[in-house]
Amino acid sequence: MRAAVLETQPGELVIDEITLTKPDADEVLIQTVACGLCHSDLHMIDGHLPSPLPAVLGHEAAGIVQAVGDDVTEFEPGDRVVSCLSMFCGNCRECGVGNTWLCENRQALGKRTDGSSRLWRGDVEVNQMTGLGAFAEEMLVHRNAIVQVPDELPLELGALLGCAVITGVGSVVNGARVRPGSTVAVIGCGGVGLNIVQGAAIAGAGRIIAVDLNAEKLALATTFGATDVVNGSDTDAVAAVRELTGGGVDAAFEAIGLPATAQQAFSMIRPGRTAYLVGLPAMGADIELPGTVMLLQGRGLQGLFMGSNNFKRDIPMLANLYLQGRLKLDELVAAKIDLEQVNEGYAAMRTGTEARSVIVF
Ligand code: APR
Ligand code: ZN
Repeated sequence: MRAAVLETQPGELVIDEITLTKPDADEVLIQTVACGLCHSDLHMIDGHLPSPLPAVLGHEAAGIVQAVGDDVTEFEPGDRVVSCLSMFCGNCRECGVGNTWLCENRQALGKRTDGSSRLWRGDVEVNQMTGLGAFAEEMLVHRNAIVQVPDELPLELGALLGCAVITGVGSVVNGARVRPGSTVAVIGCGGVGLNIVQGAAIAGAGRIIAVDLNAEKLALATTFGATDVVNGSDTDAVAAVRELTGGGVDAAFEAIGLPATAQQAFSMIRPGRTAYLVGLPAMGADIELPGTVMLLQGRGLQGLFMGSNNFKRDIPMLANLYLQGRLKLDELVAAKIDLEQVNEGYAAMRTGTEARSVIVF
């Protein structure tokens, strides 16, 4: 099967032939239908996150089950599924208390039971990014990396549920538990930030302030439910948010992955509240915070990984909200592209004026 392979960091993706192993007892073979381009893959392409190479990237995908391993009873060929990198074992301490997104065995589930890769190029092992490797015509994954979705959900939209949407909406409803009427600021309105905005709208936030450097993104944020916008390229974003809310918001979300904007989020909240880091910082990036203010004003900064999801619960919930017209997905897709156009798709993300590009196989 064909896949987009990263051979060097930094580098470009190269389309090449990759072989999959036969499904292990707990594995499912999927024909990939669609995969979104997420900024986390770009972090790998640019070398900001080290990865074993060569690697097949891509982790925001949906497809159709082709074959299942001997022990898999919950899926059968023909099932339409969405994948999620928050794969879980179900047996560790975190899974036991319901924190499946923190599964202690997540990394191990990204490989075969014997620890070898499911992906090969000739006799060379190829790393399967996040246990999915979805920039590929087929995916071989652990059974707890996928969930079935309703037939009415188009899979090129369903793909987005597995990363950008679950991360954004989940950060609001699972992580921050935003209450109706509360005030929210969102810094960075890309694929993830727009979903924080619409998550806040679904949660009934009273005021949703979108912050970006790009006017097009801010216009898009308004259609996703932002009540106010702040363009940080010509305004002091912290001062503007504090002014709009008479002293700060109840929850601020950083959706870029930069220390400077994490500090901004921390400065935008009212005392006693928490700012949330949702964007992924580069490996080694430290965030400096004023300790005195943190203590005397009871402020916090918390990282939220993948929207603190239990995706087997959350993805069907999100699919239903879409089918009821309460969650926007069509508007997230700026372009549908071929696998061969993946590098152009990432070039477009660097200029940053559009929402998601989605590879449709
Ligand atoms: N202030 C405000 N907005 C900014 C700034 C800044 N200093 N710098 C960049 N932005 C905006 C961009 O204009 C863009 O709209 O942040 C947005 C980032 O969006 P995308 O590139 O689409 O990234 P996305 O896929 O949403 O991911 C965001 O979440 O999952 C992580 O790894 C991912 O760290 C990344 C983050
Ligand atoms: Zn992602």
